[in-house]
Amino acid sequence: MSDTEYINDLYVQEDKVLLKIKASMKQHGMPQISLSAQSAKILYLWAKVGQAKSMLEVGTLAGYSGIWLARALPETGTLLTLELNPRFAQVAVENFKLAGLQHKVKVQVGDALAEMERLQQLGTMFDFFFFDADKLNYPKYLQLALSMAEPGAIIAADNTLWQGRVFDPASIRPTTKSVRIFNKMLAENNRLESIIIPIGDGLSIARVNDKLL
Ligand SMILES: C[S@@+](CC[C@H](N)C(=O)[O-])C[C@H]1O[C@@H](n2cnc3c(N)ncnc32)[C@H](O)[C@@H]1O
Repeated sequence: MSDTEYINDLYVQEDKVLLKIKASMKQHGMPQISLSAQSAKILYLWAKVGQAKSMLEVGTLAGYSGIWLARALPETGTLLTLELNPRFAQVAVENFKLAGLQHKVKVQVGDALAEMERLQQLGTMFDFFFFDADKLNYPKYLQLALSMAEPGAIIAADNTLWQGRVFDPASIRPTTKSVRIFNKMLAENNRLESIIIPIGDGLSIARVNDKLL
């Protein structure tokens, strides 16, 4: 038994809804790139501990991570999740209904960057962000999130070890450079306290401090 199996057996049970969603993704020919159950449980707990009430997710896919996040919200809490692909978004809408979470979740179809810029102009604020989409825009997503973050907000992001390429000097792909910049921004911005949890492909967690340090 691996450590992951041991931890999951004890602490990370996926219920029927989550298992059904994974199966439906295969049926719809969708990529199997949802967050791991272990990472999802960490985000779920983080959101609960921080008593998150207004969440923004970038990258919905079929709604797997969104369901974990929305389950951490109080009844009056909201999750806005952004998805470029209308077909994926439609599957996600059905899955949020299946999970009985449609009253808390809105799936917005379109480019996340454009949508975040629109939300920023409207003065919308969030207390929990999760980035799990195109890595090239991670630095821009972070800048926008910082301008829409409530004091004490959490900013989380998946794939921040980028299969080890971020600490391999030989890797000079644009996506690697972008994730490196994002990680450096999380480390050096004096409004943030951050860490990468070495789980899956690297899960970053940052807290936006109440005031400038
Ligand atoms: C890794 S998947 C998200 C997985 C999901 N968070 C989960 O764990 O269940 C990345 C998703 O981001 C979407 N995406 C990619 N670029 C995007 C963009 N510019 N705006 C919005 N969504 C985007 C993709 O279509 C894909 O569904």
